[in-house]
Amino acid sequence: MNNKINNQRRKFLQYSSIAVASAATLPSFIHAANSSATNTASADFYPDVEIELSMDVTKVPLFKGSKTRVWKVWGKVLKGSPDTVKNLPDTYLAPILHFQKGQKVRIYLKNNLPSQSILHWHGLHVPSKMDGNPMYAINHGESFIYEFEILNRAGTYWYHSHAHGVTAKQVYSGMASFFIVSDKEEQALKLPRGQYDLPLVIQDRSFDSNNQLKYSNHMMQKMQGFLGDQILINSQPDFVLPVESRSYRFRLLNGSNSRIYKLAWDDGSPITVIGTDGGLIEKPETMPYVMLAPAERRELWVDFSNKPIGTELTLRSIPFEGASMHGGMMGGRRGGMGGGMMGGMMSENKLPLGGDYPVLKVKVVKKASTNDPLPTRLTPIKPLKLSDAANPNNPRTIKLTMRRMSALLNGRSYKMDDIRADEIIPVNTLQLMEFDNGYSGSQGMGMSMDMPHPMHLHGEQFQIIKREVNSKFQQTHDTVSKGLVDSGWKDTTLVMPGEKVTFLKPFNDFKGLFMYHCHNLEHEDLGMMRDYLIK
Ligand code: C2O
Ligand code: CU
Ligand code: CU
Repeated sequence: MNNKINNQRRKFLQYSSIAVASAATLPSFIHAANSSATNTASADFYPDVEIELSMDVTKVPLFKGSKTRVWKVWGKVLKGSPDTVKNLPDTYLAPILHFQKGQKVRIYLKNNLPSQSILHWHGLHVPSKMDGNPMYAINHGESFIYEFEILNRAGTYWYHSHAHGVTAKQVYSGMASFFIVSDKEEQALKLPRGQYDLPLVIQDRSFDSNNQLKYSNHMMQKMQGFLGDQILINSQPDFVLPVESRSYRFRLLNGSNSRIYKLAWDDGSPITVIGTDGGLIEKPETMPYVMLAPAERRELWVDFSNKPIGTELTLRSIPFEGASMHGGMMGGRRGGMGGGMMGGMMSENKLPLGGDYPVLKVKVVKKASTNDPLPTRLTPIKPLKLSDAANPNNPRTIKLTMRRMSALLNGRSYKMDDIRADEIIPVNTLQLMEFDNGYSGSQGMGMSMDMPHPMHLHGEQFQIIKREVNSKFQQTHDTVSKGLVDSGWKDTTLVMPGEKVTFLKPFNDFKGLFMYHCHNLEHEDLGMMRDYLIK
């Protein structure tokens, strides 16, 4: 494939903060970028499926009255099953994409937005150039052509904008949706399917009195992360899901910029988890509540078969601690809303992080004639072995720090083309890695802040092998620990204050740049993001 990533533009993106400004204000620059396609389709790639995705500014009816202006992705199937693309009109969401493992896919992305943008396939194992690295952001009027094979196992993946500095705003304006992969093994299982298999994305938004999205860029908000004052499910405010009295597969995605959920049924029923970021887990796990950090997915098996018609159930987010920023001086103090150095402003939110509020309402409306029982075993998962790691005694540590005005990984902020020695990883190796969020003691003097970070790595899925908590933070951690699902394959994990998460991650097949970053999108835009160079 011929990727003419314009060198001049790379320099421009690299050295100019104007790169995040509207392309419409930079006509000379647009003309300097020589063609409208930054790369071309390759002659020796034979796609099974070809789709077109265009990114547009449009208005959708989310409420009565004025339509809401959003940034919307529309899809079209050029080759392959019409089921590949499911457009969601009247929502801000991008289309839901459905693929089969092994399919070769070509995606033509067209940017009609007044800004640069690029889409990233979150959780997918694709070549570096196909991964939506911000380096490949395209301007208004330009196209990018993706070509890759679906190597991932069946799972609930997703995709979203990844243009540097504006990811949070673009995702908030709509540019995200599901990327669902199926395979033979999954199809052989008798899990609820069709209308009983439901992708459900949880997001928080704020709207003004004219139904327009509100988003503010104050430093305070960048540090905490944006918190909306209402919850939307699949882009709908006041969402109520009508169900039959039978079992369902809920594919939950936390598509919020920064909000972390602790989900529990209001009638005290336990939650049955069957899958996580990288697909099904070995066997169902039952827990009192589940934590869902930004970008994480949890698949639930939910049974309404004993519920009488008319039953209403609510999945709520229930209280937990450690959610808000705290100054380092107060490290280990019990967290919660309203505490901490900036607590005053945060407590103005109607839905404080770590508070108690409804998320998803379900109403049993119909008696079902069929049911799918819960399989006792779902899928075999081969555990990665420490002895296979290239560095079994020398983990690659990623230290997370928040200070006033900065969010850092190993003390560094994001910069394009800025690979340091410890960010080079040999291809086809398994690496022992750890996220350290203040577990190993103080990160410096005074002003560091204790916050949870949803940490994500691009490329192949990883396996979590242990969590350790600094004793000062044990009490905080106890408020979330029963809801963490660390089995199976992961691409994003919640790292609580005072916590260290150790995991094994394979870096197979593809060389090039792959990102690692905090998926609190405000933190990401603030620079809590870096690249690894696989070579
Ligand atoms: Cu959803 Cu760079 O990630
Ligand atoms: Cu990703
Ligand atoms: Cu973060």
